[in-house]
Amino acid sequence: MQMSNMERTVKEKMRAIITGVGHYAPEKRLTNQDLERMVDTNDKWITTRTGIKERRILDKEKGISHMGIRAAEMALSRANVSASELDLILVATVTPDMPVPAAAAIIQKELGAEKCWGFDINGGCAGFLCAMATGAQFIENSRHQKVLVIGADKMSAILNYEDRNTCVLFGDGAGAVVLEAASDGEKGGIDDFDMHLDGTGAKSLFMEAGGSLHPATHETVEKRMHYVYQDGRNVFKKAINGMSEVSARLMEKHGLKGEDMGLLIPHQANLRIIDSVSKKLGLTPEQVMVNIEKYGNTTAGTIPIAMSEAWEDGRMKKGDRIILSAFGAGFTWGSLLLTWALEGKAPRT
Ligand code: UT7
Repeated sequence: MQMSNMERTVKEKMRAIITGVGHYAPEKRLTNQDLERMVDTNDKWITTRTGIKERRILDKEKGISHMGIRAAEMALSRANVSASELDLILVATVTPDMPVPAAAAIIQKELGAEKCWGFDINGGCAGFLCAMATGAQFIENSRHQKVLVIGADKMSAILNYEDRNTCVLFGDGAGAVVLEAASDGEKGGIDDFDMHLDGTGAKSLFMEAGGSLHPATHETVEKRMHYVYQDGRNVFKKAINGMSEVSARLMEKHGLKGEDMGLLIPHQANLRIIDSVSKKLGLTPEQVMVNIEKYGNTTAGTIPIAMSEAWEDGRMKKGDRIILSAFGAGFTWGSLLLTWALEGKAPRT
């Protein structure tokens, strides 16, 4: 006999399991060589300081919903879930198509997810983890069965391509995850997360205009206040400490050592940050997913894109313990521990 959700909450805790992951990257590539012709930079500096070789750029007339929809369609098809079954859509982004309505609304309509609700989450580069942690709650408390979590950003829309400090770092892309309810008896799913917010970092990574404090005016445009500014050195140090401390704490809490881990899927902002965090956690390069050379920093997109590619490459086996970790504007940072629940590789599409 089938148990109702109410009976389940009393008898056993629900777990949020990842049943599908997908991603989308625009075709247009912006290489380090292209950037050499645009600003005072060079391939050697970018490669050695960041690990990035190229990034993808979305067409000017398209917004993040274009990428989010495609990533979502791939994730839904891999999960064998139809959009009409979704209860909730969460979109992590700092570059929604427009301030109002939420990108979640635009994506919901295009997907035909007629029975769900949804909203956007701005957690900077850690936005996807904020959205995963939020989505998992609705499943764990038995409120929802199927949640779509999207991380998507079009950083090319808010970059100053005359500022070498930022324009070489970021790119455009999206990833999506389908979370479904499974009973506690089933192996796998989101095990735990540890998220943080420290507003003293607000001045280290921001875009000043376009909100209620500095709405768009001729002056804000002339003063270039609609572009991203970053104090790279400060963010760099804080990112290494933040990501490694939180991940280590989660591992210790769950009795895990470096050798017990399947894969670390870190936010792809800088290869040197990823290497430092991995060393501090006692992980080998085989235990760390890196694709920064292809996409640069796609903000909320990095982790789901990397997860989708790691699944395609067969780098996650059923039962593997996986850590997702990110650091970004706010500062907002944290890690999420999960147990991979799927057999085999994702089909490449
Ligand atoms: O995703 C959100 C979180 N963001 C991050 O995690 C990013 C964290 N920060 C970083 O990844 C690094 O700090 C950067 C890649 C942004 C910069 O690397 P760095 O090793 O910290 O370089 P720096 O800022 O200390 O700059 C070193 C030098 C400077 O020249 P001087 O002052 O030493 O003469 C910069 O002007 O490199 C110069 N520089 C460049 N040179 C060539 C800065 N950008 C460039 C460039 N090409 N694109």
